[in-house]
Amino acid sequence: MSQYVWGYLPEYEQERDDILDAVDSVFRSGKLVMGPSVRQFEEEFAAWHGVEHCAGVDNGTNAIVLGLRAIGVKPGDEVITVSNTAAPTVVAIDAVGATPVFVDVLEENYLMDVTQVEAAITEKTSCLLPVHLYGQCVDMAPLRAIAQKHGIPILEDCAQSHGARHHGEVAGSMGLAAAFSFYPTKVLGAYGDGGATITSDSTVDASLRRLRYYGMETVYHVVQTPGHNSRLDEVQAEILRRKLRRLDAYIGRRREIADRYAEELSDTELVLPAVAAGNDHVYYVHVVRHPRRDAVLEALKEHDVFLNISYPWPVHRQRGFQHLGYAEGSLPVTEKLAGEIFSLPMYPSLSDAEQEKFIDVLRGVLAAV
Ligand SMILES: Cc1ncc(COP(=O)(O)O)c(C=O)c1O
Repeated sequence: MSQYVWGYLPEYEQERDDILDAVDSVFRSGKLVMGPSVRQFEEEFAAWHGVEHCAGVDNGTNAIVLGLRAIGVKPGDEVITVSNTAAPTVVAIDAVGATPVFVDVLEENYLMDVTQVEAAITEKTSCLLPVHLYGQCVDMAPLRAIAQKHGIPILEDCAQSHGARHHGEVAGSMGLAAAFSFYPTKVLGAYGDGGATITSDSTVDASLRRLRYYGMETVYHVVQTPGHNSRLDEVQAEILRRKLRRLDAYIGRRREIADRYAEELSDTELVLPAVAAGNDHVYYVHVVRHPRRDAVLEALKEHDVFLNISYPWPVHRQRGFQHLGYAEGSLPVTEKLAGEIFSLPMYPSLSDAEQEKFIDVLRGVLAAV
């Protein structure tokens, strides 16, 4: 088992008193679901992003599903996104009954190639879904111009980009709505599943609140279908409130780790992350490229280092999405990247000594492959 697979345990050791206090305060409150912690977290998370509303939900996938439904995406519609993403982005579009339409990504930063979006728009397109992948934002000015020209709303997938900024604007504040995941590894992670959808549009927010609560506006009376039970629970909300106060520190530590990789690995064959103009990267994952990636990963295993690939199979080439009809070669940059990328250890509780030891091992492997 690799010593660099992130688990919550080192963070828990550092934050244990606060986390246990959060859990205890909820258990003693007498309210386990839809209580004060969810309400306060929603207010604080919306304020942190400078938007009006936040609806806490049960995970990031449902934050996208409900976000799509709330902005009016219907079965049979088309949603333009990327295949170079975590599969849940596309799973969510599929769950709504809409068709994902993929554009390729830019080779230099792995993000949506916005210049391909306009040609992908049809009369069925009802949403543009940029993914702020790995911790940095898609080029939003041209995307917003296209959205405005065609009257199509933007839903931002911010599952990997809590606190990322783009020309000073924070991820999640640049579209009609934005979906977040609080899966434990995320830049803001819960101690279990969680998610949220934020917006400054009160109609969208009202719809989100109904949809996550069976479609009810008041108890026992459904006013909107199809409803869901997609509530964020009180314990996770209270933990997230505590951790939100430390979000800037988590991001700061991630940047320190990235800076160290840049200092110590820039003379190797690795292609290190390129930060796009105007972006403040939060390094949810630290993805690098190497032309002999598989040999590097195999050699690292000899040193008990098992690294992750985010993601080994582009979504359009996965078996469950073959019906979408994207042949091999249809998204060439996405497909090329999948064969070359891998992720270096990146989590705030990674110590300097651990990182240094890892860099030594990696440098040795890179010199030998
Ligand atoms: C880009 C992206 N979108 C959506 C999701 C879905 O989030 P969750 O795992 O909380 O459902 C994830 C997380 O896996 C993700 O990385």
